[in-house]
Amino acid sequence: MAVGDGAPAAELGVTGDRDEFRRPDGRLLAAAGAALLLALLLAVLREAATAPSEGLDQIWIEPLSRVDRCVSCHRADAPAFLEAHGDLLDAHPPEEFGCTLCHGGQGPATRQADAHGDVPFWEEPLLDTRRARIHGVSRAQLMEMRCNACHRAQAEVRGMPTLNAAKQQVERKRCLRCHSIGGEGAFDAPDLTYEGDKHPTHYAFPDGWRGPRTALAWHVRHFTDPAAVVPGSAMPTWILPEGQAEALALLVLSWRRLDLPPRYWPR
Ligand code: HEC
Ligand code: HEC
Ligand code: HEC
Ligand code: HEC
Repeated sequence: MAVGDGAPAAELGVTGDRDEFRRPDGRLLAAAGAALLLALLLAVLREAATAPSEGLDQIWIEPLSRVDRCVSCHRADAPAFLEAHGDLLDAHPPEEFGCTLCHGGQGPATRQADAHGDVPFWEEPLLDTRRARIHGVSRAQLMEMRCNACHRAQAEVRGMPTLNAAKQQVERKRCLRCHSIGGEGAFDAPDLTYEGDKHPTHYAFPDGWRGPRTALAWHVRHFTDPAAVVPGSAMPTWILPEGQAEALALLVLSWRRLDLPPRYWPR
């Protein structure tokens, strides 16, 4: 199909030829101006309604050049906060670790939707209850993906029951027979060292796919029935215990490149 034959440019994913656009007349410009003003006004009102009520607060983490403003709305000394985190904060004090390393979200943002990462082009959304539910896992399980970005070298870590189990599956199923992970193993199948960094477009969803089109959903299906998503796949099909396909999917997605100073790597 040629560009400019009447098809909307956005659907083609290309911009049209300049001459194809009509010049706007005066009335159109005035209407556009009024609409713009209204949009600005609404944006200001919305900002006021969702901005933190008690002013800005933030955690500036110098070694990471990172700022997390979550504490503008979530007080880190509130009883509910302390209860939710238990003794996690002893090993990961918020003043050094901030919030987004574990939770995702957009640290510098001050409006809830932005901070929680519900915005286009932000690839680290808050790992919240809603997102977890969509994938049939709990929020705590979803968050283990983050924990393990740092704790990947340890076979067993307290507070990470799901990924501890997944790591045992990797031993038992001998993934390294075919794959390499961190320079170990074979090269008969894709290198999995940084599987979690692969772009979403890496994953092809077969026709008739139901459910979310996310990397996590793709991996769950792939671990349940590889050939269903990669026709002719040489990856074995296992009968996995309940929840283990999800656990393996969370595990491979936790394998990401993280550029952190030594203090942030568990020994
Ligand atoms: C402008 C205020 C505001 C900011 C900034 C903010 N939050 Fe929230 N957050 C809220 C409110 C209000 C709720 C409870 C209502 C809801 O869940 O929508 C919430 C809920 C949450 C929850 C529970 C959600 C669930 O359903 O599992 C988590 C976790 C969370 N926030 C983490 C963060 C993190 C991490 C940041 C920083 C990146 C952050 N928030 C920044 C206002 C904020
Ligand atoms: C070491 C990782 C880690 C760090 C750092 C961390 N959290 Fe959490 N947070 C957790 C875990 C784990 C939970 C419990 C999740 C669950 O059980 O669903 C949690 C729970 C929460 C909840 C949900 C409470 C509820 O009742 O639903 C909020 C809100 C939250 N954290 C905000 C923050 C903020 C703000 C910061 C930064 C000051 C922060 N967290 C730092 C790991 C962390
Ligand atoms: C940014 C990297 C990072 C993230 C994310 C992270 N940790 Fe840690 N964790 C560490 C470091 C570093 C230590 C060691 C702290 C020390 O020795 O002072 C540690 C220590 C621990 C310890 C205590 C020591 C041990 O091995 O028994 C536990 C338990 C733990 N982390 C669990 C978790 C859980 C659960 C999460 C996710 C909710 C998590 N961590 C997220 C870096 C991280
Ligand atoms: C007998 C060889 C074999 C074994 C054992 C094996 N795999 Fe695979 N795996 C493959 C092949 C071949 C592919 C490429 C075709 C495909 O995507 O299904 C693959 C693909 C994958 C992919 C998708 C990679 C990508 O980016 O497209 C993941 C993730 C994966 N395997 C994880 C695992 C894990 C985890 C284990 C162990 C629990 C494992 N595999 C065991 C052969 C194997």
